[in-house]
Amino acid sequence: MAVVRAWIYLLFTLICFGRVWYLFRLSTASLRAPRIPTTHTIPADVDRSIPISMGAEPKGIFYFVQISDLHISKFRPKGHTHYFLHFIRSILPVLKPSFVVVTGDLTDAKDMRRVTSQQYVEEWSLYNYAIDQGVQGTRWYDMRGNHDCFDLPSWKSRANLYRTHGQSASLIAEGGGIYAWEERLEYGRYKFIAIDACPKKGPSRPLNFFGYLTSKAMDQLASHVLSDSYNHTFMFSHYPTTTMVFGVSSQGYTYRDLARHTSAYFCGHLHRLIGGLGDILQAYHPSTQSLELELGDLKEHGLYRIVAIDHDLISFVDTPLPSAIMKSRPERLIPLDNTTVLWPHAVDIAPVVLITNPKEARFSIPAKEPLEQIQKSTHLRFLVFSSLDPSQLQVSIWIDNIEHIHPAEFVGNQEMPLWVAKWDPSSLELKELHTIRVQVDTPTMIGSSSIEFRLDNQRTKVNGGTGEWIISTHMTSTLQCITAFSFLFMLILLLVPVLHTQANIPTRSPIEIWSKKLAALDRQDPPRIYGSVQTNVLSSALQFYQFPQEQPIVWHGFLVGCLVLLTCPWFRAEFLPSAEGNERYGNFYLWGIMFGSVWEPIADTWLFGALTVVLDVLVFFVVFVYRLHLKGSARFKSGMVVYWLWRVSELLSLAMFYGGWWPSLVLNFLVAWLCWIGVVLVGGIGGIWTQIHVQQQNIVPDKEAQWTQEDENGSSSSSSSIEPIVCGVHVKNRRKV
Ligand SMILES: *[C@@H]1O[C@H](CO)[C@@H](O)[C@H](O)[C@H]1NC(C)=O
Repeated sequence: MAVVRAWIYLLFTLICFGRVWYLFRLSTASLRAPRIPTTHTIPADVDRSIPISMGAEPKGIFYFVQISDLHISKFRPKGHTHYFLHFIRSILPVLKPSFVVVTGDLTDAKDMRRVTSQQYVEEWSLYNYAIDQGVQGTRWYDMRGNHDCFDLPSWKSRANLYRTHGQSASLIAEGGGIYAWEERLEYGRYKFIAIDACPKKGPSRPLNFFGYLTSKAMDQLASHVLSDSYNHTFMFSHYPTTTMVFGVSSQGYTYRDLARHTSAYFCGHLHRLIGGLGDILQAYHPSTQSLELELGDLKEHGLYRIVAIDHDLISFVDTPLPSAIMKSRPERLIPLDNTTVLWPHAVDIAPVVLITNPKEARFSIPAKEPLEQIQKSTHLRFLVFSSLDPSQLQVSIWIDNIEHIHPAEFVGNQEMPLWVAKWDPSSLELKELHTIRVQVDTPTMIGSSSIEFRLDNQRTKVNGGTGEWIISTHMTSTLQCITAFSFLFMLILLLVPVLHTQANIPTRSPIEIWSKKLAALDRQDPPRIYGSVQTNVLSSALQFYQFPQEQPIVWHGFLVGCLVLLTCPWFRAEFLPSAEGNERYGNFYLWGIMFGSVWEPIADTWLFGALTVVLDVLVFFVVFVYRLHLKGSARFKSGMVVYWLWRVSELLSLAMFYGGWWPSLVLNFLVAWLCWIGVVLVGGIGGIWTQIHVQQQNIVPDKEAQWTQEDENGSSSSSSSIEPIVCGVHVKNRRKV
């Protein structure tokens, strides 16, 4: 009979896995596509056989500007709107770039208390008016970030204010989320591709952090990337690749296949993380031989980036707004409902220096840049951005801390603030790392730049610490692995003991054998290291094998819990408050959020899922298997209760984000789950309740000691005589739930 039951458990689990496969395929269907045979011809690499040498002419160079994460806000006086207006008023006229690219999060879209989110037309109007009135003669490209698609029922929805107020909205609409432009210059062709990776239906915050590209969007991306051969191809997106899910194009191209044909991926989104973790969110991806360069936000850190391409060498500098702006913090909000923008007074900026030759070795791309140009060049080259006339600037250069003998001279013009200085690279050691420092003094301010370079065409490490590591990982797959591994771990440890013990019935059960062995090891004198390892492993295994018999209800609870979490919706909530009627609601699955019959394969479910599975399931699984909730000290038990309360409060916050307790807390499996966990924690013998009860009668020590002692002897008879009562309590309490 028991054997049959064991097989039924297994069969049931396997059926659930069938559904897991089905849900996985269904939820990610839009990321895959039926294969169409390849029609793209892979463009040839650029032919750099005719050498062009870098000298003193203001030729072969252009530059553009990137900003990110503006977060124009209706409610925040500091940073945000203020910095954005200053960028346009004080910085842009000095930079005069070919174009500006904004990589998302144009508006903040958070409410006054920073809890819920919605699109505010005032924020969008200001963005629009500021560009119309403040930006003349500079092309402006933009795309949405996750804040721009909070609470967004669809692209066509009235809530999609980017569609009416964004600068590149029509390009994005035509290109299905992707658009591109080209710079055709006399010395080369350069391609720029902007990627809007927002979810099609954007949930309100916080479950809207990740982006994805469907298979259709990947087709678009592939057609742009592979359209022709370019000197360089650049991609722009709000989301770093670690927070993206890339589909596969209908010709089978993955993101990696395409990124190989590009030189750099510019993004934002992570701001600078916290505590200095994200100071350098930049990395070189060896697999695609390309750079990924996150830019900190304009909103708080006041950062903007200038990127120059000089004779196909890519250089960039991330600069904060002048401290005069950063320190001026308006007390009052900048009114957003004026049709005329209230501009702040322009502020002078210190000279910004961008060295383009030699190129910084940390960001070299040996496969895609003509690095040998550095060694052959006759002049150092750098751009100096300043509102003053070049004649008022005093430039000094140091190489390897020695003042450079040749003077710097301005060779640029109105459009190109280029400075050069003669140099002789052959006088420097070929195989070493060198430093160059350029300092520009005005009568009142100083600007400088210092980089490390090499002459042997090699790269050096980015040395970005945690930030570089974060950009190099793939968060989505990591979260999926953590979740999958936790589920497998628990299911295997739940099922194997049952199947194994039942299958062994005619002979002796492993529990008996291991108990004997343990007892033998215990008697060993003196105890040996190997012996104690063996004891630990054996007693651990024994706990798992006894778990189904000793705490059958808890065991069943975990089996059912895991299978429900894998196959059923976790909760239903109002993810899209601005939609009509029932369209406001979505069902949260581990696999994605389902609106009606449409799946959003947004990876936020994996983040939430991994946290829940580890903190709400795995932790308690370990506690219950080892009966820590019964055996632990009083302090441990109260710690457990505090932990449980913390988990409950986290869960209750869903109501705050998603429109109150109905349906987010009522149609919610996790609420039932945590209630049940609470009952098991408190209600069992030796659980919190009994603890308090017994303490009142002052007989704690005996009973506890006796119980633990028996347990440690590994005698199963003593504990099994107690356990049924434990279960009895569970059963009673469970009915109440
Ligand atoms: C750009 O590529 C072309 C070949 O396609 C090459 O002739 C030209 O020199 C390159 N431009 C630069 C600046 O290297």
